[in-house]
Amino acid sequence: MIEVFDPIIGEEEIEAVVAALRRGEISGSFGETIPRFEEEFAAYCGCKYGVAVSSGSTALHLAVAAAEIGAGDEVLVSSSTNIATALAVIHNQAIPVPVDSESLTWNLDLDLIENLITEKTKAIIPVHLYGHPVDMDRLMEIAQRHNLLVIEDCAESHGATCRNRMTGSFGDMACFSFYANKVITTGEGGMVTTNNAEFAERLRLLRNLAFSKPRFRHEEAGFNFRMTGIQAAMGRAQFAKIEHILSEKRRVAQTYNNFLGDVDGLQLPHEAEWARNVYWMYAVVVQPEFGITRDELTTSLRAADIDTRTFFCPMNQQPCLLSLPDFRTVPCPVADGLWDNGLYLPSTYSLSEDVIKQVAGAVKAAAQSQKKAMSLL
Ligand SMILES: Cc1ncc(COP(=O)(O)O)c(C=O)c1O
Repeated sequence: MIEVFDPIIGEEEIEAVVAALRRGEISGSFGETIPRFEEEFAAYCGCKYGVAVSSGSTALHLAVAAAEIGAGDEVLVSSSTNIATALAVIHNQAIPVPVDSESLTWNLDLDLIENLITEKTKAIIPVHLYGHPVDMDRLMEIAQRHNLLVIEDCAESHGATCRNRMTGSFGDMACFSFYANKVITTGEGGMVTTNNAEFAERLRLLRNLAFSKPRFRHEEAGFNFRMTGIQAAMGRAQFAKIEHILSEKRRVAQTYNNFLGDVDGLQLPHEAEWARNVYWMYAVVVQPEFGITRDELTTSLRAADIDTRTFFCPMNQQPCLLSLPDFRTVPCPVADGLWDNGLYLPSTYSLSEDVIKQVAGAVKAAAQSQKKAMSLL
């Protein structure tokens, strides 16, 4: 099976983890490795502060808590995203409001934001989906005009830029994931970046059970969202390779583009002229002219030992959100269409040109076989 993604772990990561173990840096409370990783990664993103946590989900949960968003508040979120984006809002007792996608980049449609804002709206969480940045200059201008906080969901966009500026450096806070299939990985892990010293302080406090003085007396209900030293050691070894990883991801995407560019009815990933897309995954959308449906294509690829994934189920269709008493029904026809017709192809960044050609060939063959069958009728 050609997997959708295979993590690549080198000797450097193994040695770094072993060295952390030998130094006794096993928890989230000791050693120099966690602060070093935080400093390096935050600086890479163009931010002053980094706060390492246990996952991308806890990064989002913590950022929403640090922003003091809670009961009675609404937060606009991209409709097409991983459930973690919306869970961060509901686990803080606030209500996520889905914003439909735009059809080119599949990111939230900035033209829809202002109509969704109410007196309850406190923040926007834009997601840089599949590695293509949201137009953050425009989004920040809208947010500032309405006095809204912005928490970027950068789980899929490490190193992606908008007009040469890193995603993660625009919002009040930004949340990264280091899950196994992310641009760089610590197995499980995440980080919140910010340029705001007060947010950084609150993030650190709430990450660590809100310890205060005297120790073991707690003014606030915090969380244990700490990253371990072992994970940070792996993260630093991965981080040293990030530009190589990104250029390989772009090579894989370019190679797919070359082989699939002439296929009718297959929408390929976009890269706006102001953007650096990092192609976290190589995602495509099946249109009617393709001849077969997304599910038929998936079945045909599976028969050829090629793994795929669908796009995300949009937030306007999530049972766990629809059952919330205050959840607003917002139609999201574009995100619905992406859920029905989108998929991503094997995207491991070490894929050779031959394997990519094989996958692209199988995609074309699936569409061709249908056309042949139709012509025989
Ligand atoms: C857009 C997005 N947000 C948040 C997350 C959650 O990250 P994690 O799996 O590290 O909790 C993910 C990925 O898993 C994601 O793709």
